[in-house]
Amino acid sequence: MRPIILAGNWKMYKTQAEALAFLEQFLPLIAETAHQVILGVPFTSLGGLAVRLPATVHLAAQNIHWADFGAFTGEVSGPMLREVDVSHVIIGHSERRQYFGETDATVNLRLKAAQHHGLTPILCVGETKAQRDAQATEAVIFSQLEQDLVGVDQQKLIIAYEPIWAIGTGDTCATLEANRVIGLIRSRLTHSDVPIQYGGSVKPENIDEIMAQPEIDGVLVGGASLEATSFARIVNYGSVCR
Ligand code: 13P
Repeated sequence: MRPIILAGNWKMYKTQAEALAFLEQFLPLIAETAHQVILGVPFTSLGGLAVRLPATVHLAAQNIHWADFGAFTGEVSGPMLREVDVSHVIIGHSERRQYFGETDATVNLRLKAAQHHGLTPILCVGETKAQRDAQATEAVIFSQLEQDLVGVDQQKLIIAYEPIWAIGTGDTCATLEANRVIGLIRSRLTHSDVPIQYGGSVKPENIDEIMAQPEIDGVLVGGASLEATSFARIVNYGSVCR
């Protein structure tokens, strides 16, 4: 059975002091959860949070370089992340692709590096509004998957479907449509048990509907993961028979 994974992506938000204050409020609120919880936090907070997390809450970095070390200013390596007990890494987020020149080729290198170091990657794929309007959603996502997953072990992988037009806009993808696209993504994989999340304007108000969809195995949450009560409500989403 596929696990349910609720992940927060804090992006470039929260100082270390703010991260610790979040944790103090958040952990008691999710003490009962049976699901996997992941916090994707800025590099500066990884070490401080790692020593304070219970076994049910995991840490994700938001980037990894493919080399173990070297003259790569601004990058971070697998051994550095392992040292601070990071278990997951978000790779190929649309903000990395859009603002920092991430390509499918570098996404592929980062995915393989993460797995080489025993980190589980969360691979983000998704289409722009213009691509959706041009009926190119499937082609874009299939192309990303085909290039990103060359040589990647699908048994140690999480995928997040994040339609770019739904990120930070409040314009959530209709749940049936998200379910349909995620089903299509699954149909392209060699390992059908890869957990596939939905991301894009996930909120306490829509989490129950999203998680009621059979293909959706969890969520990758931006804005609503920054506030402890809001992310706890998402983690503790209504009991759903699956
Ligand atoms: P929002 O939840 O703020 O739309 O962000 C989604 C996202 O980019 C998660 O990686």
